[in-house]
Amino acid sequence: MSLSDQAILEQLQALDRMHHLHPFTDPQAVKKAAPFVIEQAKGAYITGQEIRLLDAMAGLGCVNIGYGREEMADVAAEAIRTLSYYHSFSAVSNPYAAALAGKIAALAPGDLNKVFFANSGSEANETLMKLAYLYWRRKGRPNKRILISREYSYHGSTLATTRLNGNRPMIEDFGLDGGADVIKAISPFWYRCGGDLEPEEFGVHAAKEIEKKILAAGADNVAAVIAEPVQGTMGAVVPPQSYWPEVARICKEHDVLLIADEVVTGFGRTGNWFAQETFGFQADMMTLAKGLSSGYAPISASVVSDEIADVIEGQSGVLQHGFTTSGHPLASALALKNIEIIGTEDHVTRVRTDIGPYFAKALKSLEDHPLVGEVRVSGLIAGIELAKDKETREQYPLEANICNHVSQMALVRGLIVRPAGNVVVLCPPFVITHAEIDFMVGVMRDALDETYKAIHQS
Ligand SMILES: Cc1ncc(COP(=O)(O)O)c(C=O)c1O
Repeated sequence: MSLSDQAILEQLQALDRMHHLHPFTDPQAVKKAAPFVIEQAKGAYITGQEIRLLDAMAGLGCVNIGYGREEMADVAAEAIRTLSYYHSFSAVSNPYAAALAGKIAALAPGDLNKVFFANSGSEANETLMKLAYLYWRRKGRPNKRILISREYSYHGSTLATTRLNGNRPMIEDFGLDGGADVIKAISPFWYRCGGDLEPEEFGVHAAKEIEKKILAAGADNVAAVIAEPVQGTMGAVVPPQSYWPEVARICKEHDVLLIADEVVTGFGRTGNWFAQETFGFQADMMTLAKGLSSGYAPISASVVSDEIADVIEGQSGVLQHGFTTSGHPLASALALKNIEIIGTEDHVTRVRTDIGPYFAKALKSLEDHPLVGEVRVSGLIAGIELAKDKETREQYPLEANICNHVSQMALVRGLIVRPAGNVVVLCPPFVITHAEIDFMVGVMRDALDETYKAIHQS
């Protein structure tokens, strides 16, 4: 469909405004302004309404191998021609899902060897919530029901995963607050919560706060701790290196399962296949989505350790959980090809040793800007923390919309970034080049300058 015809474009925009309820969007904003319609995407760029933009967000942090790859189109066509659909209930499989489960098990850290497929990161996390409950019930410990998540976390939009999130409005808007079965611990967000502690000291402190929550609830009542290795959506919170080994130790000591939500960090984002390697720990369960197919198809995976699989599989009785499209052949074929591309093009090494360090150094150069409190980077995910006062780390009030202003100034200069409260998040595709990173940082400096000027003129 070509949008070069203005009449067609306007017709589509009218249909969208009338009938499309957009996720994470203010419906009033859609009423006021026509939606921006994206028509094409290739490599690290998207094009819509004759505007080409460098996408420093890889969609929603998912398009790791870049947009519009021919080999992915070929695989999709072949999979549809060969097996357009069949389910995976009742011990039925298909070649793509079987091969993909094997590939994930081969790549995953330690003994994370058993894979359950769903469609989204939210479903993958909710699957692990249920599997954690099932595991403890099968172990004869049905009281272990409490889940500990953290402030600044994001784990999904389904009814159950919403309650894990660290963002209050996401929970309160639907009246989902309350309930003693989900407890929030502090985030290892040194810049905002670290006070006078050195980052590494604070890492241990934040881990010990999880231990306090476990002890207060009673370890016999706690099923699992669920956490993102790097908190992506709520501001690219990169924890101090001391944090994760201590959290893993605490969970083991108190017999609490550790769930690593690697929906964003999986498949190379932090410079290793999984962030557990980057941060030196091993979870009992992990979730994968986004980079699993680089957004070419909706697919997610919940992966559990041999020990958990043995308990769940050790008793006969149907696993009462699943989705019509679990292990979908098309999505599985695309995920397999995506993983092959990440491997053959050696993107993980490139993120760790070349493009990641280049990205970090370039973005860190913005720390001298009067609006920038801190730049945090892990591999190819970064957060530029805006500050009203660099010394005291005071933030601008959210109502001042400073971060939205910076992001808007970047957009009009051809760059997509994501405002998250007072943090500008960048999470580019792995195919990004050094020259594109130079462009990105130049645009960010201009956008920060423009915003600083606007603040001081008003
Ligand atoms: C860490 C994390 N977990 C889970 C999710 C939910 O994934 P989905 O939007 O595919 O349901 C997201 C989405 O951004 C995420 O960042």
